[in-house]
Formats: sequence, C-alpha cells, structure tokens
Amino acid sequence: MKALGVSGSPRRAGNTDIAVQRVLAGLARSGVETEFVSLAEFPVKPCAACYECAKGRGCVIPDPNFDLLLPKFARSDAIILGSPVWFGSATPQLMALIGRVGSVARRGGNFLRRKIGASVAVARRAGQNFTFAQINMFFLASEMIVPGSSYWNVLTGKEKGEAGRDAEGIQTLDTLAENIAWLLKKF
Ligand SMILES: Cc1cc2nc3c(=O)[nH]c(=O)nc-3n(C[C@H](O)[C@H](O)[C@H](O)COP(=O)(O)O)c2cc1C
Repeated sequence: MKALGVSGSPRRAGNTDIAVQRVLAGLARSGVETEFVSLAEFPVKPCAACYECAKGRGCVIPDPNFDLLLPKFARSDAIILGSPVWFGSATPQLMALIGRVGSVARRGGNFLRRKIGASVAVARRAGQNFTFAQINMFFLASEMIVPGSSYWNVLTGKEKGEAGRDAEGIQTLDTLAENIAWLLKKF
C-alpha cells in the first residue's frame, strides 16, 4: 500500500509541509509506504481548457513536473493534499494540479476511482473549512473515498512551524492517519 502526500504551499518547510508530513509519518508507522512532494519544488502549470485530454490523449501541456507527478497519483492507494488558506481558498498552485490531474483521470479510465483522499488546510486565522471542503470536492467528484477524523483536518498557524504546535490539530491528523491506515488494510 502506498500513500502520496502533496503540499500546495510555495513556502518550503512551512506549515502545510508539516501537516502533510505528519499524516504521512502516521501512515508510515502503520507500515504504509509514503512519498512526499512539495509544489514549491515541483510547480505545475494550470489547465489550459484545451480539452485534448477528452480525446484520450492525456494532458498535452509541455510540463515535466506534471509528467513526473501524474504517475505518482496513479500508483498511490491514498492521496493526501494539503494547502495553506489564501484569501479563504486553496492556493492556485494546488488548484493547478487538481484541475489537470482531475481532468486527465476523468477522461483516462477514471484511475482515481476508489482511492482514498484526505485534505488538510492550514491558516493563520480563518478559512480552513472552506479550503478543506474545496479539496474534498475534487476527491468526491473523482469517486474517491474520504475518511474522517476526530475533527476536520485543519490547523492554525502563521509563521513557519506554528501549526506544529496546534495540539488539537496535530491530534486530528494522527487520528486521520490511523483511519486511512485502517481503511487501506480493509482494501
Ligand atoms: C497570499 C496569502 C493569503 C493568505 N490568506 C489567508 C486567509 O485568508 N486566512 C488566514 O487565516 N490566513 C491567510 N494567510 C496565512 C497563511 O494561511 C498561513 O500563514 C499558513 O500557515 C501558511 O502556510 P505555509 O507555511 O504552508 O505556507 C495567507 C497567506 C498568504 C501568503
């Protein structure tokens, strides 16, 4: 079993990286193979709405980072996507990836179907729930299975590392990891 975690923050080693890596660490403790990717390191271009993927050609935008990331989605059993909240929303960096992976998957054999999807959102003050729901929209419209935790998967923090001190948020992520691992074992 394999889990992919993607941080949609352009800030390296920031709060979203911490949150996504926390979920992956919990999964690793349960014996799940994990991989972390930062969109700060591998930014992808947004969807061009060319609809070439609808012709079964995959995504035709020249973008080595996307070509690297897409097979990671296809190979993973669980996908954890994290984003900082930016003006009440997920980052354009993460939405660019979602738009393209989602479109290619829908038109390319629906390969996300029945994978597990979990979203994580971090904000200084507010907007986490909207961003959490925004990412879940992608999972749910891709026929993915979205497990719960003891609360919504949200953390509070502004400066780098602050979210790691949000004790309830961290506990929520640890419980989320346990629930994802439990589900994976049922598969
Ligand atoms: C462009 C921008 C917009 C932001 N908008 C919000 C917001 O709407 N609500 C909020 O509480 N924090 C907002 N923040 C703060 C970040 O969500 C917060 O610092 C978060 O911890 C950053 O995560 P990161 O370290 O993973 O980048 C914003 C930050 C930036 C750079």
